[in-house]
Formats: sequence, C-alpha cells, structure tokens
Amino acid sequence: MPEIRKIIIDTDPGQDDAVAIMTALASPELEILGITAVAGNVPLTLTEKNARKICELAGRPDTRVFAGAEHPMVRKLVTAENVHGKTGLDGPTLPEPTMPLQDQDAVDFIIETLKREESGAVTICALGPLTNLGLALKREPKIAPRIREIVLMGGGLFEGGNVTPAAEFNIYVDPHAAALVLASGIPTVIVPLDCTHKVLTTAKRVAAFRGLATRPGIAVAEMLEFFERFDESKYGTDGGPLHDPCVIAYLLKPDLFSGRFINVSIETVSELTLGMTVADWWGVTNKPANATYLRDVDHEALFQLLIERIGRL
Ligand code: BDR
Ligand code: CA
Repeated sequence: MPEIRKIIIDTDPGQDDAVAIMTALASPELEILGITAVAGNVPLTLTEKNARKICELAGRPDTRVFAGAEHPMVRKLVTAENVHGKTGLDGPTLPEPTMPLQDQDAVDFIIETLKREESGAVTICALGPLTNLGLALKREPKIAPRIREIVLMGGGLFEGGNVTPAAEFNIYVDPHAAALVLASGIPTVIVPLDCTHKVLTTAKRVAAFRGLATRPGIAVAEMLEFFERFDESKYGTDGGPLHDPCVIAYLLKPDLFSGRFINVSIETVSELTLGMTVADWWGVTNKPANATYLRDVDHEALFQLLIERIGRL
C-alpha cells in the first residue's frame, strides 16, 4: 500500500487554484488536512468562499476550509481581477457555498497542525502569495523543521515575470513572506513560470475536460476558457498556462518534472525588481542551495493525469 501524503493547501482561488484543489481532492494518494485561504488573486472574503465552492463542486463539503491573511506581511494587497474576473472564479455559474468556513484562523491552524502531526509528516502546497506561511513561521519558528516539504508555485527566471518584467504574481504580492520561507531551511520545491508556461490549456485539452460530461469536468472547461483569454492575447498561444495544478501533479508524479537544486533569493527592496526570484541556475554565486527549481515538465502526461483525476469526481 503506497504512502498517503498529508497536505495543507494554501491558496487564493483562482481558476487554476480550483483545478489544483479538485485534482488533490480526487487523488487518494493525498490526504488534505485543510485548505487555508489567503488574499491574492482577489480579496480574502472571495478566496475563502471560492475554496468552499470548489469543495462543493468536487462533492467534498466535508473538507475543512480556513481563512487566513487579509493582506501581505508588509506591502499593500495587489489583486488580479483582470485575469481571474470579479469573483476570482469567473467562468462557470457556481452556487453560493453552504458548507461552513472553519472558526479557527488559517495561520493558527497551520501552526497547530504542524505541532500535532508527527514531525516530517506534513507537506505544504502553496498556490498563492506566501503570507499565511510567512506569518506562521514568524509566530512559531519551531514549526519549520517539522514541515516535510513546501511545494510552491511562484517565481520565474528564463520566462521573466508575469506581473512586472521581473516578478511573478505570487511572489510579487508578498515578497517578504517568500523571503522568509526561502530562508527557513525547509525543503522547498519551486514550480516557476519557466515550467508552467509549458503547460498550456489548448483547445483540445479544454475539450477533453468538457468531454468528461460531468459537472466538475464541464465547470473546469468553463473556468479554463475564461482564465486563458487574458494570457492567450498576452502571449499569443493556443491556451494559457495552467500554473497551480503543477504543484499537485508534482506530488503525484514527480518524475514528470526536472530541475536543479540551487540557491533562490527574493528581492524585497528594489522598486524596479521587487519580488524577483533571483535563481542561481548557473551556480555563479557560492550561496548555498535552498530550493529545487523545476524548469521542465512533460506537459502531455501532466494533462492526461489532470483529466483522468477530474474524471474521477
Ligand atoms: C499565479 O498567480 C495567480 O494568478 C495564479 O493563480 C497562480 O498561482 C501565477 O503567477
Ligand atoms: Ca493561485
């Protein structure tokens, strides 16, 4: 019997966050201890509600959803309604959720869970700005060595940024939290734009989700059709990059990805390059490696995996 991996999903849904969450909920290899919402793509009141809508869409209203930080650790919140729509989850018409939001604060939940679970048992999947995790590490630094691994979507080197020429959205929104995470010594895997820009929601792939002919499958197709419009016109591609599901796919099938264990530092000062992931891919500094930086992915196999998993819901 293969090991079931315990995870916390930290997220700011977001259509691509939604596909990631649904894939995780459909995967028996993963046990979701909780979903922690953070402000990012849209404000927190919407991201926590969207997280609950997604759980209900996946037929899993038993999942625990917690609300965390309303704004980044230092900076003012920057949102991305231009990409994700007014609700953050534009595309399908989803009912208002009826499952409850947990009373406990997301940051307290992260700390308490890591203290309660066996050391090294819990993986954090970070799909949004790293504020909740940054706050947890600041409030209770003792949790750091208890985390098995952080797998995060964020940053970019060869592809540059997507919100400024230098910075990717999740890191840009809370660079101070990202800097804390990367300095924490926790084993970290970074899924940057260099990887996710290869994972395109082509018309054929969206049609395959729709062809599942289930409510979750059709909703995913509708989400992707809304979400890809912005990037299709920006990059001139067939489909847009599907970022966050790569994190879950990495947990399920790490062999689909390749990268290097390198030093990654976060720019927190410069106005021009704020939130840049300064990734030492070529080993030109003697800074110690602190993250596995993924650059390549078998995107065909990744989509097969996502479609197969969404088909289980
Ligand atoms: C990241 O930013 C958000 O818009 C997406 O959900 C993803 O997490 C990509 O830069
Ligand atoms: Ca996200």
